[in-house]
Amino acid sequence: MCGIIGYTGSSQALPVLVQGIRLLSYRGYDSAGVAIWQDGSLRIRKDKGRIEDLAPRWSPDELAGTTGIGHTRWATHGVPNQVNAHPQHDDGETVAVVHNGIIENDLALREALEADGVPLVSDTDTEVFAHLFARAFDGDPVAAARHLLEACHGAFALAIQHAAMPDTIIAVRRGSPLLVGVGVRENLVASDLRPLVGRADAVIDLGEDQIAIVTPDDVRLFDADGAEITAERRPIDHSERDIGKDGYPHFMLKEIHEQPDRIYELVASRIDPKHQRVRLEDVGITDEQWRAFDRVDLIGCGTAFHACLYGAYVLEGLAGIPSRALMAHEYDARKPHLDERVLAIAVSQSGETMDTKIAIQSAVDGGAHTLGVLNVRESVIGRTVNGVLDIHAGPEVAVASTKVYTQMLCGLLLLALRGAQARGTGDGLLAEIAPALKRLPDDVRTVLGRFDRVREAARDVRRAGDMLFLGRGFDAGTALEGALKMKEISYIHAEGYPAGEMKHGPIALVSREVPTVAIATSGPTRERMIGNVREVRARDGEIILVATDGDGDAEKLADFVLWVPEVHPLVAPVVNVVPLQLLSYETARLRGCDVDQPRNLAKTVTVQ
Ligand code: AGP
Repeated sequence: MCGIIGYTGSSQALPVLVQGIRLLSYRGYDSAGVAIWQDGSLRIRKDKGRIEDLAPRWSPDELAGTTGIGHTRWATHGVPNQVNAHPQHDDGETVAVVHNGIIENDLALREALEADGVPLVSDTDTEVFAHLFARAFDGDPVAAARHLLEACHGAFALAIQHAAMPDTIIAVRRGSPLLVGVGVRENLVASDLRPLVGRADAVIDLGEDQIAIVTPDDVRLFDADGAEITAERRPIDHSERDIGKDGYPHFMLKEIHEQPDRIYELVASRIDPKHQRVRLEDVGITDEQWRAFDRVDLIGCGTAFHACLYGAYVLEGLAGIPSRALMAHEYDARKPHLDERVLAIAVSQSGETMDTKIAIQSAVDGGAHTLGVLNVRESVIGRTVNGVLDIHAGPEVAVASTKVYTQMLCGLLLLALRGAQARGTGDGLLAEIAPALKRLPDDVRTVLGRFDRVREAARDVRRAGDMLFLGRGFDAGTALEGALKMKEISYIHAEGYPAGEMKHGPIALVSREVPTVAIATSGPTRERMIGNVREVRARDGEIILVATDGDGDAEKLADFVLWVPEVHPLVAPVVNVVPLQLLSYETARLRGCDVDQPRNLAKTVTVQ
């Protein structure tokens, strides 16, 4: 969603802010802006549009200063336009604010300000911060920031400038993540790590309701009572620095190709082959707790929800605990029964998704044991749960999740094996699965090496208006994920179904113009999948079949076969999703779509 960057140092702020905005643009945005302190006033430039179009209009002469803040906005309160873009400011332009998150009581605050004669010009909730800060500021920025924390409800990360404080950025965090990047005689503020890499050597993660006063040589941290506290710095590690495209035309393609290495690292670090054990001590669930759980709720959205579908199969099938996958935004409405025998797992790449955060918070409040299966340990969800299983996918920049999905599947399989180990339901299981997990990176590499075949299929489906994706069992989620990938980046309308649903409705859609992608690899569901494929074929439907090497029926049944190597059925979804990722990528590319930043989507959805 929205992104924040701030800079104070000895360099010109404008190029740092523009570069920061570029690096934040993967989050999705529709407008951008900057504020820079110059000669006693704040110069604000902002508008609807992409940074490539906006930055050339921002004159370095008119924005010549060494302290400033910048923002990418993804519209929630008010349409994307110049007035609603950030930075927002008070009527005198003495205060500029960039904001990520939402004020829940903004209507009441707006009414109170208007009753006091304050003119509000935008539709945003953010403007309220600017007016409140300006009115509360008497020379003490901490006191004015504390006033915001007292007056405003909701989740927000803020970077604020005041015209009376030439080289100062005031950072305030509640709910939404905010970092201070510490450099040499310069410091930065950002909503995530990417714009800090290359300039900052260390970061300070602002805690809940903390305020930072950031100047070029100093970062002072305060709690909500105004007491100064120690700012803990952590170095930026090597994997966090890795944000280039490495010669790939798109981040998505690069991230698809990273999967074998990421899977290898995760699996190798978590399986102890000598003792035939899964090592997840840091996740913090004891054997006794595993044995006491009588339900697992797996909670996520979008791709993460599809990983939850697989997680529910393996946790129930291997560890023998009744398990269900639930969309985070539907969780509260169910009024789930919760106590310490429920293991509630939030599955999330960002750890910032608001729906998932709210759902896992209600599991915490209900007394469940909570776990995050996350790619960002130091995230809002990471700080909410009892323990974290870090999937170590590395930074994912493309809006469409790929490597994170396969890491989630591997992480959930490891978790299920650990549960089976603790509950005594896994005798011989690891001995059976460990070789399959060890070979998995090579199996994924094999599929990546068959991109040419996928390209042929993409040339065929690129003109489709609608598509169906079918799978069963462990691969029911793969079908949903294949459809999501296709629709989000190629804009082809695609639906994914557990194939058994076909007869109950979707088969009415089958025609020559609606290609069906069917996952029918070897394993317990193959025969029934082949039955579904025949039904589609009988209605003249075009078939793209994901099939196992050596399957003698595949060529006869399908228009295109996307071959995958024979693997253990438990890890098959990790392999089977890869041709679907490549198919959506190539189809989107052929259709001229913006692969890494599809329209209307944000990488991280920090609003409900
Ligand atoms: C997937 O390609 C999408 N970007 C989206 O469905 C995403 O998985 C979802 O918004 C959840 O995000 P999270 O993993 O950061 O919680």
